[in-house]
Amino acid sequence: MLSPADDRNADEIAYWNGPGGRRWLERQQWQDALLAPVAEILLDRAAPRAGEVVLDIGCGCGATSFALAQRVVPNGRVLGIDVSEPLLARARQLAPPALPVEFVLSDATAYPFESARADLACSRFGVMFFADPARSFTNIRRGLRGGARLAFACWRQPRENPWLMVPLQQAYRHVPRLPEIGPEDPGPFSFADPHRVRRVLALAGFETIDLEPIDLTFDLSNGQGLDAAVDAAMGIGPASRALDGQPPALRAAAAESIRAALAQHQVGNAVSLSAALWLVTAASPSEGER
Ligand SMILES: C[S@@+](CC[C@H](N)C(=O)[O-])C[C@H]1O[C@@H](n2cnc3c(N)ncnc32)[C@H](O)[C@@H]1O
Repeated sequence: MLSPADDRNADEIAYWNGPGGRRWLERQQWQDALLAPVAEILLDRAAPRAGEVVLDIGCGCGATSFALAQRVVPNGRVLGIDVSEPLLARARQLAPPALPVEFVLSDATAYPFESARADLACSRFGVMFFADPARSFTNIRRGLRGGARLAFACWRQPRENPWLMVPLQQAYRHVPRLPEIGPEDPGPFSFADPHRVRRVLALAGFETIDLEPIDLTFDLSNGQGLDAAVDAAMGIGPASRALDGQPPALRAAAAESIRAALAQHQVGNAVSLSAALWLVTAASPSEGER
């Protein structure tokens, strides 16, 4: 267990240091290419400026941390925080030498951020895995100065994200279903409900909370055709969780079903399915109100 960390995050911490982290690393380049449009929108809405101090929450292999750091030079800096040792090791490896970016292995729920220092906290899909998100966001807000901004991307409902759900439904024809989880339990869809996002952020003391729906189309193949799309679909999201550790024969059968379903979305070398996310922005109260 990391120190400091919220004990209730132990399962997610184990997951991101275990199978989840391993799969993310294997597919890091592909995922960064797939999720590049999200980074672009996030940066646009977060609007980092030269000289700012920025927190990148659940920074993974650092793609967004590097992009943020490029915007805050010369006098700003970025702190990327993540619970996954292997993902942070990759981030440190990939960090361009002159960029003002630093990584810390810790739980964002409990990390002692320098008080009231940062101008901006950002995250690309790194904030949906907290057991007690109000507590986590309260801790993050303590690290922000009065009037600082928060901007993050999180997934909308599963039914609005066929790029994740089509492979999962096909996998379920061959392997056991994942344990049922509640809509507020930690996981990729835990912030799908906009009322919950508003409630959590308000409880954590944020103001001017806004959720912008963003609809995208992801080419699962990255232009590499159906085989690449099947490989990708089996390596990310809930389908990868369901297929993890399953016998090779069942994985092969699932791959065939996923292939047949994805073939219906193939045009040329592209295999495109829709994705839906919230781009959430909020502000930390200004000095007098804190
Ligand atoms: C879906 S990945 C996104 C990674 C990265 N932001 C990206 O876009 O490539 C979620 C990340 O959140 C991290 N994470 C999960 N719980 C966390 C916590 N309590 N504190 C900090 N990071 C956490 C995971 O280790 C993982 O790297």
